[in-house]
Amino acid sequence: MPRVESFDCIIIGAGAAGLMCAATAGKRGRSVVVLDHANKVGKKILMSGGGRCNFTNYFAEPENFLSNNSHFCKSALSRYTQYDFIDMVERHGIAYHEKTLGQLFCDNKSRDILNMLLEECRQAGVTIHTHCGVHSIRRTEESYHLQTDKGKMQCHSLVIATGGLSIPRMGASGFGYDVARQFGLNVTPRAASLVPFTLAGRMREFAQALAGVSMPVRVGCGDQTFEEALLFTHKGVSGPAILQISNYWYPGDVVLVDFCPRLNLVEQMLEWRGDGSRASLKNRLAGLLPKAFVQQWLAMHHYAETDRPLAEMSNAQIETVASWFQSWQMVPGGTEGYATAEVTRGGVDTDAVSSKTFEVRDIPGLYFIGEVLDVTGWLGGYNFQWAWASGYCAGEYV
Ligand code: FDA
Repeated sequence: MPRVESFDCIIIGAGAAGLMCAATAGKRGRSVVVLDHANKVGKKILMSGGGRCNFTNYFAEPENFLSNNSHFCKSALSRYTQYDFIDMVERHGIAYHEKTLGQLFCDNKSRDILNMLLEECRQAGVTIHTHCGVHSIRRTEESYHLQTDKGKMQCHSLVIATGGLSIPRMGASGFGYDVARQFGLNVTPRAASLVPFTLAGRMREFAQALAGVSMPVRVGCGDQTFEEALLFTHKGVSGPAILQISNYWYPGDVVLVDFCPRLNLVEQMLEWRGDGSRASLKNRLAGLLPKAFVQQWLAMHHYAETDRPLAEMSNAQIETVASWFQSWQMVPGGTEGYATAEVTRGGVDTDAVSSKTFEVRDIPGLYFIGEVLDVTGWLGGYNFQWAWASGYCAGEYV
């Protein structure tokens, strides 16, 4: 008979949520193994935040998360807060700083965060196997039986922490959704999110010509707005403002872009017109916005009189030009997809899952944590905070 290894808890996925859950459960004296099919653990932690891991956010609140059930995230976020994680970071002597908008980054490297989690797992006696895919899961009344690349294993608590679909080359897979379906759970529609938009036709050519140019904007979709930077790319638009609004965008939606978010451009232009200067419209606007953008944007709108003094413009002309800069109705052709997305919007329906324990209500011993669930955070450290909070809370019960 081949040997069957027994554990209190098997966690599938050695990412942010899985490692946090493992360390928490291990400290409670549970025997824990974490299985990951990739060659290394925590790859997304390593690549996150441009290599410096934006590991949480001072301002993380339930309002910063999207889900079919907006209440689901509240309990875990309040029981394991950003300050709990910051505490752990400080205990491990990791230097960090606030970059902007409450976003906390390592001073050094993302590796510091991964090493911290691995050290917590080591102290808690957790076993971690990489190169370990799971071929089948069978449930009996007492336990879960797994066929894996490292042989047969069984456990009382099975935690699915396999994350979302973004960046497949880093080990992302739809495994967690398949397990959910195997056990009869609903999976909400999923989409690449925190992702750049692609533009089509003339707008794409326009973006290509300005690729690399960036500026602060206000973007809006539905009731949601963000004021951050927009970046033109060879395929369309990116930058934090665009990634943020992509969480709220569905195909066909219009995204409203204001290139002068901090002022009323009509009033500004009227003021310029009255100050007696003979400066051109183009030069006046280039004082506010990148020159190349101003030129191309006016050309895009077939405005031929860019060198004409602003003082000669009529009220109607001023209003028209201001509207080009303050209310661009952008219709994205699509997104760049999972190849570049930071997260997956949607996932395992939270209706069937306890927001306290993360156990599936009708299936004792089966848990889902982290990004595989239908909970998606804003850009800025929120998604890791969700991984830490859900991982910690499940770790208290598995
Ligand atoms: P995560 O993806 O971390 O881990 C899942 C694990 O499961 C992986 O190790 C994977 O190999 C494993 N796995 C998958 N399928 C499996 C299978 N079939 N069998 C076994 N193992 C399997 N967030 C943030 O808050 N701040 C930031 O700075 C960034 N930056 C960032 C940059 C980039 C480029 C990306 C792609 C993402 C971010 N994010 C982020 C998002 C953040 O990385 C993400 O939300 C969390 O890592 C999710 O944690 P999970 O543990 O749920 O999944």
